[in-house]
Amino acid sequence: MYSLLVRNARIAQPDGSIYEGDLACERGLIAKTGPSLDAQADETIDAGGKLLLPGVIDPQVHFREPGATYKEDLASGSRAAVKGGVTSFLEMPNTNPPTIDQSSLDSKLASAKRKCVANYGFFIGATPNNLHEINTASPVCGIKIFMGASTGDLLVHDPQDLEHIFANGDRLIAVHAEDEKRIRERRALFAENTDPRVHSEIRDNRCAALATELALTLSTRYERRLHILHLSTHDEVEQLQNHKPSWVTAEVIPNHLYLNVEHYARQGTLVQMNPPIRQPKDNAALWQALHDGVIDFIATDHAPHSMEEKKQPYSQSPSGVPGVETSLPLMLTHMKAGKCTLAELQKWMCWGPAEAYRIANKGKITEGWDADLTLVDIDAVRPARNQDMFTKVGWTPYHGWPLTGWPIYTIVGGYVAFDQNRIRENVCGQALNFTT
Ligand code: DOR
Repeated sequence: MYSLLVRNARIAQPDGSIYEGDLACERGLIAKTGPSLDAQADETIDAGGKLLLPGVIDPQVHFREPGATYKEDLASGSRAAVKGGVTSFLEMPNTNPPTIDQSSLDSKLASAKRKCVANYGFFIGATPNNLHEINTASPVCGIKIFMGASTGDLLVHDPQDLEHIFANGDRLIAVHAEDEKRIRERRALFAENTDPRVHSEIRDNRCAALATELALTLSTRYERRLHILHLSTHDEVEQLQNHKPSWVTAEVIPNHLYLNVEHYARQGTLVQMNPPIRQPKDNAALWQALHDGVIDFIATDHAPHSMEEKKQPYSQSPSGVPGVETSLPLMLTHMKAGKCTLAELQKWMCWGPAEAYRIANKGKITEGWDADLTLVDIDAVRPARNQDMFTKVGWTPYHGWPLTGWPIYTIVGGYVAFDQNRIRENVCGQALNFTT
């Protein structure tokens, strides 16, 4: 007797081919696949020929707990995640108080255990003086360094402090790469300007390129695992084309692929984020880099702020936009248009992040691997709409965009967590393990 049986699915294989058949789950694992399984289960889903994908891993989200739970919390964020086909997420430390030691990490883990319907992992945040904590707090997926200030107080921008962190320890370091000194200088230049467009002028391409260059130099010097978060410029793509050691990975977020400075005209501060949206030329370079493997995978940087907060005049408006429940529909739309393959989609959204963060047994539909899955209707054309969002803030920068391909069931650990627009409240996500 299995816990769950998915019948008549088009099952995505890691190489992008499709296997037509059934899939059975047992004790949290993919127990068996076959053309027509002779089996019984507690629950059976008729997939009706729809596409079964590995659950998406979103390796960068901000779920605001503790400190700003009116915008999101681990319960609402994980529900928005499974609605978007995301079965595991890695959450950032810029909460209030920030996650910078074992006790702040433990309280997040305890809350996640009670509330999350998706699997969860957390970053530990670096400060100029918590070297011991960032190297010992456990379990963590990596150390997050804000090289440029963004939401919250976390910041390490002095090159000596940065070098001290890179030189001591061997955990993965994930950097928000923007140069704080240059941001401050340029903010002074545009001090009186309230046009949201200046956000992209203040935190210009050079800000990103300078910080990425420094992170790459330090990572190379100490052979230190480095992940560059939300790459946003063609300049950084060129840097990585020229020099990307085997221990370095990079990600891009859908906002930097799909949005650019032209979107300020209609959406203003709603599309204000860090790093900022760039030029169409940058969009094109990022897409190409993703196809070429210079960029390894996709995260969302889901960073919810309320509509009221976002609608304040620049620069009182906070930076960040929600995204965890729209990334898969956006990328399925791209695939449906013939612009990427099923193999690429799985690398970018499923097994790529699992490999980089050393999460075993996730991201591929393989017997014996974890039963984290999402069944998607790749023919469903529907606009993304604010009112349909599960995030507490109830909006998306893609409001009105017709997207092709939406999750209809999301399965976490062999149990249905999201069922045709409904959350099944009895499902518990698990703490992710990161092998060293
Ligand atoms: O725009 C952003 N918002 N970028 C970040 O790095 C942080 C995020 C947030 O937490 O609001």
